Amino acid sequence: MTAIPLDGPSCADAPPNSSTVVTRRATETGFEYLLLHRSHAVNTGPWAWTPPSGQRLPGEAVHPAALRRLHEGTGLTDTEIRPVDLGRNHALWMTRDITARRPVLNHEHDDYIWVGAEESTKLCQPSIVASSMTTVDAIPDVEMDFRSLTDNDFALLSQWSHRRHLTPAWFHRALTTTGAADRYRACLDPDHPINVHILRINGVDVGIAQLASVADLPDHLAATGKSDDIAIGFAIAERRWIGKGLGPQLIWSIICRLVMPRQPTPARVVAFTARGNRASARALHKAGFTTDGTVQLGGRRRTMHCFNPGYWLGNNQ
Ligand SMILES: CC(C)(COP(=O)(O)OP(=O)(O)OC[C@H]1O[C@@H](n2cnc3c(N)ncnc32)[C@H](O)[C@@H]1OP(=O)(O)O)[C@@H](O)C(=O)NCCC(=O)NCCS
Repeated sequence: MTAIPLDGPSCADAPPNSSTVVTRRATETGFEYLLLHRSHAVNTGPWAWTPPSGQRLPGEAVHPAALRRLHEGTGLTDTEIRPVDLGRNHALWMTRDITARRPVLNHEHDDYIWVGAEESTKLCQPSIVASSMTTVDAIPDVEMDFRSLTDNDFALLSQWSHRRHLTPAWFHRALTTTGAADRYRACLDPDHPINVHILRINGVDVGIAQLASVADLPDHLAATGKSDDIAIGFAIAERRWIGKGLGPQLIWSIICRLVMPRQPTPARVVAFTARGNRASARALHKAGFTTDGTVQLGGRRRTMHCFNPGYWLGNNQ
């Protein structure tokens, strides 16, 4: 694998030991990307122009490390960064559409430029850097949030249960409105162990997110053996939002907006996938989950995926 030259002191020895935060802003003609020119680098040679990047310090949590490096390299603060692919040695993040125009450079860089996606892939060398730009350029800038399930949602859930990509992975069978009400009505009770939410993208209902304390689900407890784990599940029902790289963002939104407010110090966040559900397994991997063997859940064999909030979020939890 290509070694990535990074500025800064010694870095963490566990992956991801460094990060890139692809920083972008929206313009009338598409996104523009912020590239920094490394001091003393040959003008357009390999590693001369890159998005903000840097190492993670030993013991530093992954998300704060990426924010710190973004701040040190550009002066940007209060920037929301979203996961693109955290399942590798060099974590890839992206910003939301930012408004700042002039970065504040530190000694590591001597110039900056805002360029379109195509130009950015020409300037960023070698190809591992250019491919990060291409990956991020394909991901739309969206606002994701959640609302609680209501008894007006059963018809919508019934409609979604007929979607081919959701029937096996989520609903297991197509439901009538009454069938959806029978399955989900109990979850409207705030004391029900499973919290069900409707995922919204740009204000429109597009999917489902749910979470539960493992302690409240005997088969999950038997599977994980840890009563302070939180189990999550998720599905994007509207196909137009699938396969656009939003899976890791959805998973992090569930963790940060639904899991942490409910239980600020879970041992782990866990998720389970059926054999062959590669999209979900891959989205979890890109969100920082690692697989932890297979378990039996409700008579079905499932792969268990685990996320350690302290490792990824540190005190930002
Ligand atoms: C799980 C889900 C939310 C992920 O969202 P998404 O939009 O597919 O996620 P992303 O686009 O970020 O990434 C999906 C990854 O899976 C890959 N993928 C998709 N379908 C695949 C398949 N059949 N085989 C192999 N890989 C596949 C994509 O190529 C992508 O990987 P890449 O980034 O390496 O190219 C969505 O697929 C979904 O709602 N699925 C149905 C419900 C479900 O399975 N829920 C999970 C139950 S635990």
